[in-house]
Amino acid sequence: MGRQRVGIAAFIWLVGLTGAAGGAQAQENNCVTCHSALGGRLAAPVEAFQRDIHAEKGFGCVACHGGDASIAGMGGMARELGFVGRPRGRQVLDVCGRCHSDADFMRRYNPSLRVDQVTEYATSVHGRRLLELGDTAVATCLSCHPAHNVRPPSDPLSSVHPVNVAATCAACHGDADHMKPYGIPTDQREKYERSVHWAALSEQGDLSAPTCNDCHGNHGATPPGISWVGNVCGQCHSVMADYYEESRHATTFTMLGVPGCATCHQNHEVTRPADDMLGLDEGAVCARCHAPGDRGGETALAMRSMIDSLQAAYHAADSLLGAAENHGMEVSQALFELGGANDALVTARAAVHSFDREIVGAEVTDGLEVAVRAFARGEDAMNELRFRRTGLAVSVVIILALIAGLLLKIREVDYRATVTET
Ligand code: HEC
Ligand code: HEC
Ligand code: HEC
Ligand code: HEC
Ligand code: HEC
Ligand code: HEC
Ligand code: HEC
Ligand code: HEC
Ligand code: HEC
Repeated sequence: MGRQRVGIAAFIWLVGLTGAAGGAQAQENNCVTCHSALGGRLAAPVEAFQRDIHAEKGFGCVACHGGDASIAGMGGMARELGFVGRPRGRQVLDVCGRCHSDADFMRRYNPSLRVDQVTEYATSVHGRRLLELGDTAVATCLSCHPAHNVRPPSDPLSSVHPVNVAATCAACHGDADHMKPYGIPTDQREKYERSVHWAALSEQGDLSAPTCNDCHGNHGATPPGISWVGNVCGQCHSVMADYYEESRHATTFTMLGVPGCATCHQNHEVTRPADDMLGLDEGAVCARCHAPGDRGGETALAMRSMIDSLQAAYHAADSLLGAAENHGMEVSQALFELGGANDALVTARAAVHSFDREIVGAEVTDGLEVAVRAFARGEDAMNELRFRRTGLAVSVVIILALIAGLLLKIREVDYRATVTET
């Protein structure tokens, strides 16, 4: 260690000298010149910073670190020149907030960029623990936007691009040692990566599917307009949320202190629902709280059987029309209309969230009518097909008879010809 320090000191002295000698170079960024020559931890920022959004916008090292880049020696890093060195803890907020909380300054670069990151952060669990308790194990700006490698969220290489957010948060939240003092689960990423949301985001590239920050907020405790993170699902699934809000469960679940949507769907591991979630069979969510005797249980069974019957009617009509189509019958209009029964199935599944059998029943009835009509059209087509087939059989017989007659006629002509020849 000692030898290395002497080495660095000698090197600085040298750079200081040459810097002072070359006047033109004094106008250059001496922070970069000296640091890139230092190697290791002290040079790494120079290399990384080249692709940082702040470098792209023309900022240099002093924008965050202060000091004077025109001074070639160690003097450029004098505290009197505003040099902050390596910002730590709450100091980071001052460094980043100097620009990002200054609306007038930021407007010159990008008028649509928000300028509330620091104030929002201060209201989050992370910010409150840092500012009120001095807890430095929480996330600061740098945990989510690594210094010298800051990129806009739209950049696929950014730590805060939607596809990368789960890994960024899990650096702490998936680290059992780091989270040990807090006694909270560390399985959020694991579970989230088994969810329908992650599949939509990572496989279909559907950027409207949520990742950690869409539910928990980027900087604040919860996204704007949401009083509690448990209510966040309704931001995107508004039809289900509207039904749910009007339902008996909305009031009783709040009273019981159980979450809303997450009670039946989970928060991190939201999987694709199926009809067997409904009812009282093993694995059905309703069976967790209701029994066959109570009204909730009865309603669960009734809603399930209504949905099952619509589903069955839809499939029957669909396969009959499909068969007719395969035989060349024109049933495209009937198939198109049958789509209405499938739509009804979708709305009925959404209406389950009213937990009211009348509402589900109304949707199912509409769908059943459509399915029954379509089935009748399928039967008509099949009857028509049968009729055509009998028609065909009759004409084949007639044609065969004609051919036979013709053959006889030809023979007769041939016979006459040979007779007259001889
Ligand atoms: C002449 C060489 C030289 C110049 C010019 C120079 N530095 Fe340094 N800088 C160093 C050395 C050497 C260290 C390590 C000092 C130490 O570990 O005590 C260092 C440390 C730092 C650190 C880390 C401080 C910490 O607390 O760990 C930062 C940040 C930094 N420099 C930024 C800058 C900026 C910004 C400029 C330009 C205004 C600049 N440096 C100019 C040589 C230089
Ligand atoms: C957008 C603000 C910003 C800019 C611009 C910036 N830095 Fe930094 N730098 C930081 C922050 C914040 C840290 C503390 C990082 C941490 O603790 O993880 C830091 C840390 C450092 C360190 C200490 C690294 C270590 O591992 O101890 C050095 C050295 C450094 N910066 C040099 C530079 C140089 C040289 C430039 C210009 C090429 C530069 N920085 C530009 C924000 C910035
Ligand atoms: C000297 C002023 C300044 C400082 C200090 C500063 N920034 Fe920036 N930052 C900017 C400007 C200007 C932009 C470019 C905005 C644009 O054009 O979209 C930017 C862009 C960003 C972006 C990308 C935003 C986007 O969507 O385009 C992030 C993220 C960011 N900064 C985070 C930080 C963090 C974290 C710190 C502290 C380590 C910091 N900034 C320090 C001025 C600054
Ligand atoms: C817990 C992680 C986390 C922390 C802490 C954090 N950010 Fe962010 N930040 C994000 C995410 C995620 C996004 C991307 C938002 C999006 O997709 O639009 C973001 C976006 C940004 C943007 C782009 C504009 C915007 O608001 O969407 C800026 C600028 C920014 N952050 C600055 C900061 C500053 C300054 C701090 C410190 C006060 C900070 N961030 C702290 C996660 C964080
Ligand atoms: C630097 C490590 C670190 C990073 C990165 C980080 N967090 Fe945290 N987070 C913590 C710590 C430590 C706590 C405090 C735990 C507590 O109080 O229970 C916390 C608390 C939380 C809480 C409150 C938990 C509770 O107790 O109810 C939420 C929610 C949260 N973080 C979400 C996120 C999200 C989302 C991200 C990524 C965008 C993220 N965090 C990134 C360290 C981190
Ligand atoms: C679809 C929305 C959603 C997504 C995506 C999401 N969360 Fe959550 N998260 C919640 C809800 C809801 C809670 C329960 C909050 C409560 O009970 O107050 C929660 C709770 C938490 C907690 C508190 C401890 C716990 O496990 O109960 C942490 C920490 C957390 N989430 C971190 C994350 C991280 C990290 C990610 C990304 C890997 C993430 N969340 C993704 C909705 C979400
Ligand atoms: C930011 C918007 C957003 C938020 C917040 C959100 N979701 Fe989603 N959700 C989506 C998208 C997008 C899909 C993918 C649709 C698909 O692939 O069928 C989806 C899919 C689903 C599915 C599967 C739907 C199906 O038809 O199979 C369920 C169930 C679901 N989300 C429940 C929830 C719950 C519960 C929450 C809250 C804990 C929540 N969502 C929060 C956007 C969101
Ligand atoms: C009491 C349990 C329960 C609660 C609470 C609940 N759901 Fe559901 N949810 C279900 C059941 C059961 C299904 C499956 C219905 C079916 O497929 O027959 C379902 C299906 C869904 C679907 C897929 C619908 C489709 O088209 O297949 C989404 C999306 C959804 N729920 C979102 C939510 C949201 C958002 C909330 C909160 C506002 C919520 N759920 C609350 C039980 C619940
Ligand atoms: C977390 C436990 C829980 C789950 C899971 C649950 N319920 Fe309930 N449900 C309740 C409670 C508590 C009540 C209120 C009972 C009361 O007020 O008498 C209730 C009430 C109802 C009611 C109103 C009954 C009445 O008296 O008018 C219906 C209908 C209902 N639930 C249907 C369902 C269906 C369908 C499911 C599955 C999709 C389901 N519930 C899942 C706890 C639950």
